[in-house]
Order: sequence, then C-alpha cells, then structure tokens
Amino acid sequence: MIQHTDHFHGSDLEKIEQTFGIRKEEIISFSANINPLGLSENLKAYLSSHLDVITTYPDREYTGLSNAISEYTKCNPENIIVGNGATELISLFFSAISPKKALIIGPTYSEYEREISLSGGQIHYYFTKEENDFRFQMSDFLMEMKKDYDLVILCNPNNPTSTTLTKRELSTILSKLNEQNGYLLVDETYVEFVDNVEEISAVSLTEQFSNLVVLRGISKFFASPGLRLGYGITGNKDLLSFIKEHKNPWTINSVAEAAGSFMFRDKAYIKKTSDYIKEERNFVCKSLASIEGLKIYKSTCNFVLVKITKEGINADILFDYCIKKKFMIRNCSSFQSLNNLYFRVCFMRHEDNLALLNSIKEAMEQAYFL
Ligand SMILES: Cc1ncc(COP(=O)(O)O)c(C=O)c1O
Repeated sequence: MIQHTDHFHGSDLEKIEQTFGIRKEEIISFSANINPLGLSENLKAYLSSHLDVITTYPDREYTGLSNAISEYTKCNPENIIVGNGATELISLFFSAISPKKALIIGPTYSEYEREISLSGGQIHYYFTKEENDFRFQMSDFLMEMKKDYDLVILCNPNNPTSTTLTKRELSTILSKLNEQNGYLLVDETYVEFVDNVEEISAVSLTEQFSNLVVLRGISKFFASPGLRLGYGITGNKDLLSFIKEHKNPWTINSVAEAAGSFMFRDKAYIKKTSDYIKEERNFVCKSLASIEGLKIYKSTCNFVLVKITKEGINADILFDYCIKKKFMIRNCSSFQSLNNLYFRVCFMRHEDNLALLNSIKEAMEQAYFL
C-alpha cells in the first residue's frame, strides 16, 4: 500500500480530494472534532428570518453578543472580548502579552507555537508523559515553573490527549504564576463537551486572577467553524483595553453576531449535544478498547486519542486504509512528542461511528498484509 507522508488536518478536505480523488462532500471527518448533530434547526430558522442583518454594520462593541456569552458562561460581560474564531484571539492575546519566555503544555494544538514564534518570544515545551497516560503531574510541573516563564499555555480539555485539569489545579498554577508576574492562557475550545464543566472550566477564576485569559469558540460544540466566532474572558482590564485599541473593528460579521446572540440561549440543542456525545463517547471508547492492538486513553470530551501497539501497522497505514473508505482519521504524528503510532478520532453519528470501528478492526486484523 502506498503511504502518504503528508499529514492532513481536520480542515484539509480539499487537499484530501486532490490526493485521493474522493469528493470532499463524501468524506466523513473524524478529524475535525465538530459536533455531528450539525447546525441547530432553531438556529437555521432564526438566521433565515434575520438575514437582513447583512445590510448593517455589526455593533462595534458587540454588546448584545457579549451579554449572551455572559449569561451562557456566567461571567461579567465587561470581561468578554469577541474575535474571529479563537484563532484571532490567540494571536491578539499573544501580541498583547508579548511573552519573552513561554511554556506550552504538550503534546497539544500547534497554533500556539506558531503564534508565539510570530510574536518573537522563546518557546519551551513541558510534555506530559505516555507512561502517565498523558495526565498532568502537578509536583513535577511546579519544578518546571521555577524557570521563570512569563506565559503558560494549556488546552483544557487538551487536544489531542483529551486530558483535563481541574479548576483547583488551575488555581495552583495561577497562584504560582502570579508570584512571577506570568500569565496563564487556557484554551477551552472543547470544554462544553465534558460532563463536569463547572469543575473544569476556568471562567469563574477570571474574577480572582487578573493573570488569566480563557478562550473559547463556537466552531466545535455549535458545529459552526465557517462562522468564525470566538470569545476571550479575562478580568484584566488593562489587557482588554490594549487589545480593543489595537484590534480591527468588526472582525465578527453581522451574521455571526446574530447567530451568537441566539445559539448560546439554545438550551435544547446544548442539552441534546451533551447527552449525545456522552453516549457515543462510551460506545466508541468501549468498542475501540475491545480491538486487539489498540491502547485507548481516557476520553473526557468529543474525541479520543489511541495508540497502536501492534506491529506491522501504524497511523499512516491506518489513515490510508480508512480514507479509501471515505473516513478521515487524524494521524497524530505531526503533534510534538507523538509519532505515527498515535491517531485521534472524534465521535460522529452513530452509524458512521459503527462503520469506522469496523474499518479500524479490519485494518488491525490485516496488519502486515496492508
Ligand atoms: C484546541 C483548539 N483551539 C482552537 C482551535 C481553533 O478554533 P476556532 O475555529 O474558534 O478559531 C482549534 C481548532 O481545531 C483547536 O483544536
């Protein structure tokens, strides 16, 4: 079998189309981590009756949108800043903080490294270890913190390991960072998928710690990556006013503004998603664990990290096998500290999950012969 050395991200459907000759509409992406329920029907109805918002500029202050986010996240609306996806906010906060020596807790999402390198800061990594199932070891980490970092970045739950830190653990890190005038940036892109959001989310800590920035977006949980809407929460007024001064106005268009004001109050969709993901998480993880030659790391959100422990097969081979059946998994070899024994899949519609599980099982059984 020909192996492709390219690594495909969840949003690389056009690249896949060209490389494998499969129409992108036919590919089921187990790689993009997007809610399989798709757009809420209530949101579709709301948007189609509000399309005229396109004829006006959005509110420069995004007051209505910030109020909806404030209700949803139970935080002060004055502590919110909205952006063109979490991606714009990662970039804005890094250039505002302008770190000299940043620490990224990895393996994790690669965009942090890219953005810090653009802002000219030194980048260091603290890698959680495979022998601990990638779980965070606080005492070991506190030793690392003695090296005077002025920014620590972590993703909670973490992409791709799905590991989480509790609010208590985050408080410990924040107190330590406070002593050395350092910031903590927590990316909560996947937090709404966890069963115990209150225990995990750092949002309420923004009242207590002015060195904390929490980032979130609507791309994954609300299945809306095309709208490009994200938000940041911090109690640091100086940081907020610096960003507001330097940020281009209207980077969130009026359709995203209208959608955002509606979706955070769409309680039925929010509950349906949480219930659905919980059930599929149990089903997919149990099924993967029963396949010989796979090690499953505990999943807390809408995706799971898996290690191939059988000889004769790896994530490059498995990717090729699955994509020919139009299933796209995430080969994790491009994540720092991981290699081509790791892959990640998110939980899609039940029938698609079943079909993917069958393909993975077949591929594992045919190892050496693929
Ligand atoms: C951890 C993490 N943060 C941020 C993003 C990007 O989010 P957005 O679409 O809101 O810019 C992604 C996308 O995959 C992600 O995995």
